[in-house]
Amino acid sequence: APSYKIASIPGDGIGPEVVSATIQVVEKLAKTLGAFQIEFTHIPWGTAYYKETGRYLSEDALDTLRKFDAGIFGAVGAPDVPDHISLWGLLLAIRGPLQLYANVRPVRTFPGTKCPLNTATEGIDWMLVRENSEGEYSGQGGRSHVGQPWEAATEVAMFTRVGIERIMRFAFETARSRPRKLLTVVTKSNSMRNGMVLWDEVAASVAQDFPDVTWDKMLVDAMTVRMVTKPQSIDTIVGTNLHMDILSDLAAALAGSIGVAPSSNLDPTRKNPSLFEPVHGSAFDITGKGVANPVATFWSAAEMLKWIGEKNAADKLMTCVENVCAAGILTPDLGGTSSTQEVVDAVCVEIGKIKA
Ligand code: NAD
Ligand code: IPM
Ligand code: MN
Repeated sequence: APSYKIASIPGDGIGPEVVSATIQVVEKLAKTLGAFQIEFTHIPWGTAYYKETGRYLSEDALDTLRKFDAGIFGAVGAPDVPDHISLWGLLLAIRGPLQLYANVRPVRTFPGTKCPLNTATEGIDWMLVRENSEGEYSGQGGRSHVGQPWEAATEVAMFTRVGIERIMRFAFETARSRPRKLLTVVTKSNSMRNGMVLWDEVAASVAQDFPDVTWDKMLVDAMTVRMVTKPQSIDTIVGTNLHMDILSDLAAALAGSIGVAPSSNLDPTRKNPSLFEPVHGSAFDITGKGVANPVATFWSAAEMLKWIGEKNAADKLMTCVENVCAAGILTPDLGGTSSTQEVVDAVCVEIGKIKA
C-alpha cells in the first residue's frame, strides 16, 4: 500500500484545534480503508516558535517541506504580533517561494449550511481560482520619510506574463473539468491600466486554446454584485491574488460560513509539495473555546487526499462529513450547538460505518 508523509503545521489560534481534529479523522479513515498509510509530522512553526527563536519558520523550512508529499496548515496570526510580521513570516514565506501559484477555493452549499441569498434557491457551487504568487502579494514596495508629514508608502502590484498565463491555463483547465465549462475572468482593467489590461490580454489569448469553455470577463466591483444577485450564472472564477482573497471570503459567507471553506495552495508542476489549509484565520475570538468548525480543514484534507492520488478516500471523507452536517451535528457558526470534538467523534462514527 502507498504511504504518504504529511507535514502538519497547526500554527496559531484555532489552527491547532482544527488541525488536530483533522488528523484524528484522516487517521481513522486511513485505518478503516486500509488502502494506504499516512503519517503526519508535527512542525511547530507559529507565534510561540517566533517568540522563542525570532523567526516564524526555521532557516531550512523550504527544504524541510520538500521532504513531504504535502502539508496541512491551520492558521497564523496572534493578537500581540502585527499581522504583516506573522503572515509574511510564515504563510506568505511559503506560498511564494515554493511557487504554490494556484490557490483553489471550492465553495458550495452543504447539508446543514444555509445560503443567506433568496437568489440561490438551488444553492451555490462555485470554483474560485486565485493567483497565489504575485499581484499585491509580490512583496514589492516600501516606505520613505517614516514619521514625517511627507511620508510615502507604496504597495506595488506586480504582474508577469508568465505568472498570468500559468494561472489562466490552470483556470481554463479547471473550468473545462466541470460540467458547465463556464469561466469568469475577474479584473479591474478600467482604473488599473497596466497589470489588469495585461490580464485581459492574456485571458483572450489563452481562451483560444479552450474553444469548449464559455468565458466572460467582469470587473471585480461588478462581480460582487453578480455573486449576490445572480449566483446561478457563475461557475469557475479566476482572478488576482488580492481580488480573489476578498471574493473568496464573500463566497464562503454566501455558502453558509467561513468555517466550512477549504483551500489548496497548489504547485501544479508538482516540483514542490502543495499546502492545504482552511480559508479562515486564527479566530482569536473563539480560540480555546472548543467550538471552532473543523469542516473547512476536513474538506482541505479531502482536497489533499485527492491531490496525492487517494480520490476514493477523499470522496468517502466528504460523504461522512456531509452526513454529519445533515444530521444537524454543527458548530455554532452554522447555528448548531456541537463542539469541535463532537463533530470529530460523529465523523469518526460515520467512517466506522464504511466497512460495516
Ligand atoms: P478569521 O478568519 O480568523 O475570523 C473571522 C471570523 O470568522 C471570526 O469571528 C471567527 O470567529 C470566525 N471563524 C473563522 N474560522 C472559524 C471556524 N473554523 N469556525 C467558526 N468560526 C470561525 O479572520 P480575522 O479575524 O480577520 O483574522 C484573525 C487573524 O488570523 C489575523 O491575525 C489574521 O491576519 C489571521 N489570518 C490568517 C489566515 C491564515 O493563516 N491563513 C487567514 C486569515 C486571517
Ligand atoms: C487567506 C488569508 C491570507 C491572504 C492572509 C492571512 C495573508 O487571508 O489565505 O485568504 O491574504 O492570502
Ligand atoms: Mn483571506
